[in-house]
Amino acid sequence: MLDLENIFSDSAKAMKASVIRELLKLIREPGIISFAGGLPAPETFPTEKIKEITSSIIEREGAFMMQYGPTEGDPNLKAQILKLMKNEDDYPFDNENVLVTTASQQGLDMTGKLFVNSGDTIVVGVPTYLGALQSFSAYKANYMGIDLDEEGLITSDLEEKLEAIKKRNEKMPKFIYVIPDFQNPTGITMSLNRRNELLRIAYKFGIPILEDSPYRALRYSGESIPTILSLDKKGYVISMYTFSKTMLPGLRLGWLVSQNKEIIQKLTIIKQGTDLCTPPFTQAIAAEFVKLGHLETQITNNVAYYKQKLKFMLNALEKEMPKIDGLSWTKPEGGMFLWVKLPDHMSADDLFPKAVKEKVAYVIGSAFHCNGKGQNTLRVNFSYSTIEDIDLGIKRLAKVIKDNA
Ligand SMILES: Cc1ncc(COP(=O)(O)O)c(C=O)c1O
Repeated sequence: MLDLENIFSDSAKAMKASVIRELLKLIREPGIISFAGGLPAPETFPTEKIKEITSSIIEREGAFMMQYGPTEGDPNLKAQILKLMKNEDDYPFDNENVLVTTASQQGLDMTGKLFVNSGDTIVVGVPTYLGALQSFSAYKANYMGIDLDEEGLITSDLEEKLEAIKKRNEKMPKFIYVIPDFQNPTGITMSLNRRNELLRIAYKFGIPILEDSPYRALRYSGESIPTILSLDKKGYVISMYTFSKTMLPGLRLGWLVSQNKEIIQKLTIIKQGTDLCTPPFTQAIAAEFVKLGHLETQITNNVAYYKQKLKFMLNALEKEMPKIDGLSWTKPEGGMFLWVKLPDHMSADDLFPKAVKEKVAYVIGSAFHCNGKGQNTLRVNFSYSTIEDIDLGIKRLAKVIKDNA
């Protein structure tokens, strides 16, 4: 028998199966309405277009697609990515500012590898994306958690904490991880003032920022706010984007971008050791999809579709939820999630099996807290379920909360 406890690395030993994976196992029973996943609605997938593109480009560039490709990414896809970014802002970027990744989860892992030694600290929101905590924890990171309010990360708290570290002459955090647009899990968008403040603080203390914005294109109301990347004048920001939420997650495609080419070069070397290159096969499909204007159409359609689902869910919450002190939820302007706060004495962790019994599921909010708190919070996804299921699921959730208040 292998004595794996003695053979596994310290990092592997530190890795635990995510709470979400365990919970998701419970909700595979028939009849359960799940607001737990973070999945795009499958009916939005552009199956026919992908079929056509795939067969035509196999004929046209089959040998290229089936071969290994450059670690930096397919130049055709990079050209399309640069065009997409140009439409968004007047970025002065070229190919060397961009690294195509096997979706943004790989970007998180590689950034961890780039910056984190065992015991280093990373600044994260409380709450933040669980998958990022998983990636960074593999490098044995510690966390400095900063609370969010309706304007996003509370930058004055961050500055105070960093001042205190400086005074004690301790080591500064390695980077600041933020999800400024329709954050996973809360749906909160960081205000322009906070984005500027975050940059000012990053410059003051010499800390890079990792801006993760998978939901940015999915805005249903309100005005778009400049990316932190576009506000950065000194090359402190690395941004991550993905085609997962706008095109389809199965392609596993995203990109890292920074004004700072030295960072992109180092990440490219890291990527080489990780998977040599992102699949040329999927990159060629995506490049053609964007080039033909299908992404633009897809985003317009998805925005209209998800906007309707969000509106429906917010109306259902307003109508069905019991009127009890301390119960509230966010009203996001985009993305895929909203965040429910229960009264302090209630626990979404304890409520979970009762919700499953009532045939509705969510993700417990504590899973997104690096500090073990947030037991009275939960995340609800509105992009995946049908309107009928949103209606019924919110009725069930409201009943569970009311019965246990
Ligand atoms: C904030 C955030 N970052 C990264 C990811 C990973 O996305 P992907 O690897 O599909 O691009 C997700 C997925 O839900 C996410 O919500």
